[in-house]
Amino acid sequence: MTPFRTAIIGCGGIANRHATTITQLTDDLRLVACCDAIQERADGFSQKYANGSARVYLDYRRMFEEVPLDLVFICLPPFAHADEVDLAAAHGVHLLIEKPIALDTDTANRMLRAVETAGVKSQVGFMFRFGEAVETVAEMLQSGAAGPPGLFIGRYLCNSLHSPWWRDRAKSGGQIVEQIIHTFDLARYLLGEPATVFSRMRNQFHQDVDGYTAEDVSGTVVTFANGAIATISATNGAIPGQWISQAELVTDHLTVSFTDSNNATLHHTNLSWLRTTTIASQKDLFLAETRDLLTAIRTGGRTRTPISEGARSLQLVLAARKSAETGQVVTVR
Ligand SMILES: NC(=O)c1ccc[n+]([C@@H]2O[C@H](COP(=O)([O-])OP(=O)(O)OC[C@H]3O[C@@H](n4cnc5c(N)ncnc54)[C@H](O)[C@@H]3O)[C@@H](O)[C@H]2O)c1
Repeated sequence: MTPFRTAIIGCGGIANRHATTITQLTDDLRLVACCDAIQERADGFSQKYANGSARVYLDYRRMFEEVPLDLVFICLPPFAHADEVDLAAAHGVHLLIEKPIALDTDTANRMLRAVETAGVKSQVGFMFRFGEAVETVAEMLQSGAAGPPGLFIGRYLCNSLHSPWWRDRAKSGGQIVEQIIHTFDLARYLLGEPATVFSRMRNQFHQDVDGYTAEDVSGTVVTFANGAIATISATNGAIPGQWISQAELVTDHLTVSFTDSNNATLHHTNLSWLRTTTIASQKDLFLAETRDLLTAIRTGGRTRTPISEGARSLQLVLAARKSAETGQVVTVR
C-alpha cells in the first residue's frame, strides 16, 4: 500500500505531536510538505520528521497548487484559520484539524459545507474521545448498560502564560474557546446535544499581565436535550506546570470518576452490592485519532469526530462566551 502523501500546515507546538505520529505510521503516511508562516519552523519540521525531503512552504495556497496530497494536518492557531479547509476539500485532500476549528460559526459552517460537498474525510483533534476510559463509558451509555446520564462535572485547572496569541482573547477566543472546548466536547460526546448554557467568566489573576485579555476563571452550566446537566469549571490560575483535566459522570447505573480520558474508576450503583471497576491505560490518543481517520479514508466510513462535531462544540463554547458577555442564559441551536 502506498503511504498517503501528507502535509502539515502550522509547524508549531501541537504539530510536533502529529509529526511524531506520522513518523510512527511509516507504512501509512509520508510527510511530503511542511507549511509555516515562519520559514525556519517549516524547514525544521522537514529536517526533523522527513530528513529534509518534505517541501517547505510559507503559503499553503501555493502548497495545495504545487504538491499532490492525500492528507493534511491543520495545526494553525485559532485566529489563523482562513480558507485552508476549503482548499484542502477542493483538492480532494482529507484532513485532521486541531480544535477550535475557527473563532466564529460562519467560518466553521463554511468549512463544514466544503468538506461535505467534496466528500473528503475529516477528524477534529478532540483526542479525549479516544481515551480508553471514555470509550468504555461511551459504549455503556450507547448500549444502555450505564442507564440515562444525569450529571457531568468537568474541571480544567492549569497555570501557564501560554503563548502571546493564547493570552489575547481576540486571537484565541479565550480559555473556554481555545482549551476548555475539550471538556465541553467530552460532555457533548457523553450526554448528547446541549439545549441551554449559562456562564460566568473573568480575568481574575492576570489583569497586570500585558496583553492578557482571556478569562482565567470560569464556571458554566449546560443543560442537555435529554434533561442531563453539566457544570464545567476552569482556571488558568492553579498549580504552575500542571494541566489537570478531570470529570465525574453520574448516570442511573454508574458513577464515574475520570482522572483523565484513559483512566477512571467506575462505581456500579445499580447493584445491591458495591462493585468498582478501574480502567488504567496509557493509550496514545494522537495515534488513535489518526488511525481512526485512516480507517475512514480506506473504508469510506465515518471518523469519530468529523468536522461537523468540531462546528457543534465550537457553537457550544461560543454560546457560553455569549452568555458570560450578556449575563443571560443562551439557547444552543
Ligand atoms: N489537541 C490538543 O491537545 C492541542 C494541544 C495544543 C494545541 N492545540 C491546538 O492546536 C492549534 C495550534 O496550537 P499550537 O500550540 O501548536 O500553536 P503554535 O503557536 O505553537 O503553532 C502554530 C504555528 O502556526 C504558524 N502559523 C500561523 N499562521 C499561519 C499561516 N497563516 N500559515 C502557516 N502557518 C501559520 C505559526 O507560525 C506557528 O508555527 C491551536 O488551535 C490549539 O488550540 C491542540
